[in-house]
Amino acid sequence: MELYVDSANVEIIKELNQWLPLDGVTVNPSIVAAEDKELFPLLDELLKLSKKHLHVQVLSEKKEEIIKEAEKLHSISEKIVVKIPVSQQGLAAIKELDTEKIKITATAIFTVTQAFSAAKAGAAYLAPYVSRLDRIEQSGVKMVREMQEMVELNDFSAKIITASIKNANQVKELIRTGAQAMTLSPEILIQSHQHPLTDQAVEMFRDDWINKFKNYNLDSKLK
Ligand code: E4P
Repeated sequence: MELYVDSANVEIIKELNQWLPLDGVTVNPSIVAAEDKELFPLLDELLKLSKKHLHVQVLSEKKEEIIKEAEKLHSISEKIVVKIPVSQQGLAAIKELDTEKIKITATAIFTVTQAFSAAKAGAAYLAPYVSRLDRIEQSGVKMVREMQEMVELNDFSAKIITASIKNANQVKELIRTGAQAMTLSPEILIQSHQHPLTDQAVEMFRDDWINKFKNYNLDSKLK
């Protein structure tokens, strides 16, 4: 499963890259707007921090403009995967773009049917919004399972990148679906890796060793 951070904050991504096996970065217009930076220089910085892909969303809502923006974003770097919302205009743009050349993430997906048409039109990634479905009394995780089934039954090559994830239980359940990718906010990435019993275990190991041998490192034992 590919793992992404859903953020445009360069400092935070640098920190996360130090300890997490991240494959790259995903952004949307709201996330970029929160940074108060010029888009293109920011994308250059984010590209350097993205090992595999940087997923960047188009802004226009009309097919012709979406296509132009997708081509512009792709010309910056092949590492950029262009995010296009699955509106009618968005689907029309995906259908028309050369998806062999330009990788597309079909985003803002809320139904299996939207995912089906996006995959059929050539999208490389499908981004279902898990928490936004949970918020309207549906199950985001269930929808991801159904999408997974639809992709397999149709033999599509599209990968599911689960998005809009708000708690550690969703993270666990989504990992168990076998979805091919997941993007998490920095907060959820940190929260879902923390456990008080891990900290307690590390503390106990240190105390037991120090009580017996004083220095808590392998130096003295290696000589
Ligand atoms: C995914 O590509 C989106 O950027 C994001 O996950 C949407 O999440 P939100 O519901 O937290 O805005």
